[in-house]
Amino acid sequence: MALSKKDFEGKDVNCDDFTMADFQDFESDDLFEVAEYFYEVVADTFRKKYMVYGQPMMTSPKTEFEVFDWNRNIIRKFLNFCSYNYLGFSYHPEVIKAVQEAIAEFGTGAVSAPLLSGYSGIVRKLEEEIASLKGKDMAVVFPTGYGTNLGILSALLRPGDVAVMDILSHASIYDGVQLAGADIKVFSHNNPSHLEKVLKNLDTKRVIVCVEGVYSMDGDLANLPELIPICKRYGAKILVDEAHATLIFGEKGGGVAEHFGLEDEVDISIGTFSKSFGAIGGFAAGKEKIMTYLRLYSRAYVFSCAMAPHTAAGILKVFEIYKKDKSLRDQLWQNVYYMHGKLQEAGLDIGSTKSQVIPVMAGNDLRLREISKMIQEKGLYTGVVTYPAVSKNKTRLRLSVSAKHTKEQMDECVRILSEVYQSLR
Ligand SMILES: Cc1ncc(COP(=O)(O)O)c(C=O)c1O
Repeated sequence: MALSKKDFEGKDVNCDDFTMADFQDFESDDLFEVAEYFYEVVADTFRKKYMVYGQPMMTSPKTEFEVFDWNRNIIRKFLNFCSYNYLGFSYHPEVIKAVQEAIAEFGTGAVSAPLLSGYSGIVRKLEEEIASLKGKDMAVVFPTGYGTNLGILSALLRPGDVAVMDILSHASIYDGVQLAGADIKVFSHNNPSHLEKVLKNLDTKRVIVCVEGVYSMDGDLANLPELIPICKRYGAKILVDEAHATLIFGEKGGGVAEHFGLEDEVDISIGTFSKSFGAIGGFAAGKEKIMTYLRLYSRAYVFSCAMAPHTAAGILKVFEIYKKDKSLRDQLWQNVYYMHGKLQEAGLDIGSTKSQVIPVMAGNDLRLREISKMIQEKGLYTGVVTYPAVSKNKTRLRLSVSAKHTKEQMDECVRILSEVYQSLR
């Protein structure tokens, strides 16, 4: 039943009794009233020293970093298994130098929307690199990955159209479709026969199927070899979000579609620069005519300031380094296999990950809360993932492995995790 004011009046608020899901349908005539009561829960979370979200990072996101610890009110050093710095490019000296040089030449921002004067020649070059990496005619660079899915899907779809998506798709995919007013149909995770059942029952041909290359909360791969032929059979268009897969999968680093040799079958390839590239921004790549249309109709592109030239310069340097030398990626894969093995040996449930994104399943919210408090006390920082990012009983810690983690750091991470998970069995 939905919460309302009467559930709180005259009572002491205990954060253990609530999750974020509880406040979504809070009943009130006043738009702001929910915030009053939610705030009491947040305050109790701080009082009980459970607040692990949004702690300010005080140093660069290397494999060890300093964070302002809300619960102790001090800056502390942590082992970092949380950043998406899979290849360590955000602090690569050559990348930093390229960014510094671009700032000296072009200043700190694009200071205009891309269709006016904000579209830098460096961003244009970056779009060409992305198109070539993805084996597509053209790419469009957006200010963020979130904005890319929002902009592309809301421009492409309209009421009456249908987006059929894997149930575990990222929030930005759901939000883009919702903004378009199109219908959302989900199929169970990576399940070809369920996808087929959903497609068979649609009464429109204006359909796009959306999946992720590497699933952002589970680390497993889209089953493209089985899903794509079904999409083709029903004439559905295909969008693959390769946010976590770009530079990691595929010989060229194009992602999971390239890994399976299916690049040409994907209509729109999405990605972000906030993961392996160590920067910020997003992109969509596809056929020239489609990209030209989307560039002019994606409101998240048209009405937002363009990517800063120095950001593009840093990403272009990443391309230059990566094309010459894949040793960082090789090291990442060694670390990934090492971590998978060690975590499994320790009896931890890492789901069906096949990548550098590793969930360590925690069960319900209350157990996750204890686990996250304890690992932070022991100096380990990981993603702490709960509803709405995952369903309520599938909460987890999410580890992001980097090429830069040492064996000692990985062993220490596994040691802390197994100690904490065992103590809370
Ligand atoms: C699959 C997926 N798509 C899109 C995004 C959004 O990207 P960004 O954080 O760069 O805006 C993310 C971010 O976590 C993601 O995991």
